[in-house]
Amino acid sequence: MKTLGAILWDSGTDWSVEEIEMDAPHAGEVTVQWRYAGLCHTEEHLVTGDLVPPADVVEQFGLPPAFPMLGGHEASGVVVDVGPEVHGLQPGDHVVSSFIPACGQCRWCSSGISYLCDLNAQMFVPGMTTDNTVRHRARGRDLLQFAKVGAFAGLGVLAESSLIKIDSSIPLELAALVSCGVATGFGSAVNRAKVAPGETVVVVGVGGIGINAVQGARIAGAASVVAVDPVELKRKAALDFGATHVAESIAEALGIVSEMTQGVMAERVILCPGVLDAEIPGAALPLVAKSGTLVVTAIAPMSANTVNLNMFELGMYNKEIKGSIFGSGNGRVEVPRLLTLYKTGQLKLEGLITSTYSLADINQGFADMRAGKNIRGVIDLDRDRSDSV
Ligand SMILES: NC(=O)c1ccc[n+]([C@@H]2O[C@H](COP(=O)([O-])OP(=O)(O)OC[C@H]3O[C@@H](n4cnc5c(N)ncnc54)[C@H](O)[C@@H]3O)[C@@H](O)[C@H]2O)c1
Ligand SMILES: [Zn+2]
Ligand SMILES: [Zn+2]
Repeated sequence: MKTLGAILWDSGTDWSVEEIEMDAPHAGEVTVQWRYAGLCHTEEHLVTGDLVPPADVVEQFGLPPAFPMLGGHEASGVVVDVGPEVHGLQPGDHVVSSFIPACGQCRWCSSGISYLCDLNAQMFVPGMTTDNTVRHRARGRDLLQFAKVGAFAGLGVLAESSLIKIDSSIPLELAALVSCGVATGFGSAVNRAKVAPGETVVVVGVGGIGINAVQGARIAGAASVVAVDPVELKRKAALDFGATHVAESIAEALGIVSEMTQGVMAERVILCPGVLDAEIPGAALPLVAKSGTLVVTAIAPMSANTVNLNMFELGMYNKEIKGSIFGSGNGRVEVPRLLTLYKTGQLKLEGLITSTYSLADINQGFADMRAGKNIRGVIDLDRDRSDSV
């Protein structure tokens, strides 16, 4: 099979849209015709090199090269073929990607925390989680499917463990966003920060992830939600999604939250800027109330080991800092839960997509993300579809 895909041949380069060749699905695998793929900031970390294993790690673990890489991890599509030993999907099913596979067998999956599935250790290793062999090639080279998904393409072969079946009545362009941006932001507030009714919440960075932390906090019953972002468009959108206050910077938010809470500060602060610079956690810690929680959702450069943080304040005010991946939620539970909240009118999905692009315009989509023009940009894969199934 042949299709078009957007490939990153190395960090520091543009996405290259070109023909890719694919194999038929092996045991436990499924062919998906992708319909929509969101432009999440995580792919941008691949371009800048922030999310590429550092040289010492590559050497220590003897990792194979991560490039060339087929991007795209936030996506929706329709199953068009299934290999042997696929038990939960059939052609015609609507699916979204699960950027962390859930094997159902490992210690973490067996403990009910599939977002920590051991298969995620293979994120930067080419090959399927089923049998370690590769299904996608371009210019004769094997392609790594980012996050075991690789949805910047017309078609893809994925392990069943990387897909979540959804209700076919949900518009596929909205469903795509739920697979990463909505699940990650909402879960950062609800599952990890554990926002409770009446609390004050601050979300730093309200792009595709943070705006969903805002609406997670609203749905969890926060009394006040302060959205912090230097871009006016994002602050305005945050007000539509449940923010009660906005600030251009953490410094401005400190004044607002201090006045609003008579110095108590916010029980929950969630960090979702595009890049987690070393200065941000330390700047945000004073926003956190005594015994409050700082959640780190944004991705820092993989090789960054230092952070400027007042440890006295952390200890003596009994504060906590928590990481969060995939909204600390299990995709097969979270995605249906979020889609139910959408169907019952509580979760807003319309309005998250600012612009849609053809695959050929993917670099424009990322340029618009960098320029702060989009809450979320989405690729409509039907626009320049060359494959037929
Ligand atoms: N933990 C996870 O599982 C997970 C999953 C997906 C994405 N992410 C990460 O979450 C982060 C956000 O992703 P996104 O897709 O929403 O990005 P985005 O580019 O859509 O939005 C980031 C927002 O942060 C704002 N911003 C930048 N610097 C800021 C600062 N100093 N203070 C306040 N706001 C600032 C930008 O204006 C923008 O609106 C990225 O680092 C991404 O890689 C993490
Ligand atoms: Zn993402
Ligand atoms: Zn597992």
